Order: sequence, then C-alpha cells, then structure tokens
Amino acid sequence: MKHATLFLLNLALCLATLNTPVQAQSSPAKGRIDAIRRVVDSQIAASSDLRKNYVHLYGVANYSTILAIKRGLSPELAHIIGLLHDISYVKHGTYDRHDELGASMAKEIMEGTKLFTKDEIEIAAAAILHHDNHTTVHGPYDEVLKDADILQPYLNDVTKKANPKTAGRLKALFAELGLSWDIS
Ligand SMILES: [Fe+2]
Repeated sequence: MKHATLFLLNLALCLATLNTPVQAQSSPAKGRIDAIRRVVDSQIAASSDLRKNYVHLYGVANYSTILAIKRGLSPELAHIIGLLHDISYVKHGTYDRHDELGASMAKEIMEGTKLFTKDEIEIAAAAILHHDNHTTVHGPYDEVLKDADILQPYLNDVTKKANPKTAGRLKALFAELGLSWDIS
C-alpha cells in the first residue's frame, strides 16, 4: 500500500515535470502585441542596458496607446509601433541611422509574424522612419510616435527640465490632453 502510494506520487511528479515545458512551448500567442513583445524582449535581453530599454520601449508603447485612443487611431497598432520604434538602437547600441535601420527591422519582424497586413507594416515602417524628424508633420501614427517618444523621458522624471528642443511639442501635447502643467 505504502509502495503504491509512493509510486503514484512519483508518477504525478514526473507527469508534472514533463508537462511544464510542453505547456510552455505549445501555449498559443495571445495576440499580435504579445507576438511583437516576444521579439522585442529577446532583443532587449541581449542588449547592454536592459532597464533603459524596457522602460523606454514599453513606456512609449503605452503612451502611444493613450494618444491613439485620443486621436481615433488603432491603439493596438500604435502600441506595436511604440514597442518597435528603437529596435535598431536596442540591437546595435547606437542611434546612428536608427530610424532608417529600425524601420526595416520592424518591417522584417512584423512580416515574420505573418499577423499583419501590408498596410499596417507600411504604416509602422513609415512612423519609425520619421520619428526623429520634428520639423515636418507626417502621418497620424508618425505624430503619435513622435509625441510618445518625448512624453516618456519627460514623465519618467518630471523634476528634470524638459529638453528645450522638444519643449514646444510637449506643451502642445499637454494642452491637447487637457492637462495644465508647467513644463518649464
Ligand atoms: Fe525613442
């Protein structure tokens, strides 16, 4: 009887051990955001500044979400663009041509998932390509990304002065959001 109980206990433990990796491998993608997060997370894990990259990419993605809702755009697509926007910096550790390289990396990543339409991929690539150009007004997703990209570092520490180069944009953004806050 004692042996039978021990056998059953061991069997249960073995089955539990066997089940863990199988479940992890076969768990289906929850959605397109999760599919992109998996790729972004693996790039961040291999980067030299995990904290900075996680905080910035996830922060920009979340601010992009709220701005997209405010402006009647797709919050899901805006979030994904935010997650991917500095992927070249994360991979190469430099901002050199990170907009151009990031646009093509994002395109490749999105195509690789087979979860996006051609139009969505083009929108994302264009937004990433233009995100550092604050002198020209581009498409609606491009402008969401530009705004979220300056909002994240500012909101990360409001005790620091806003970057003078982007202060005007930040002021306009607070006004659009109906927030009375003196950024100077
Ligand atoms: Fe950025």
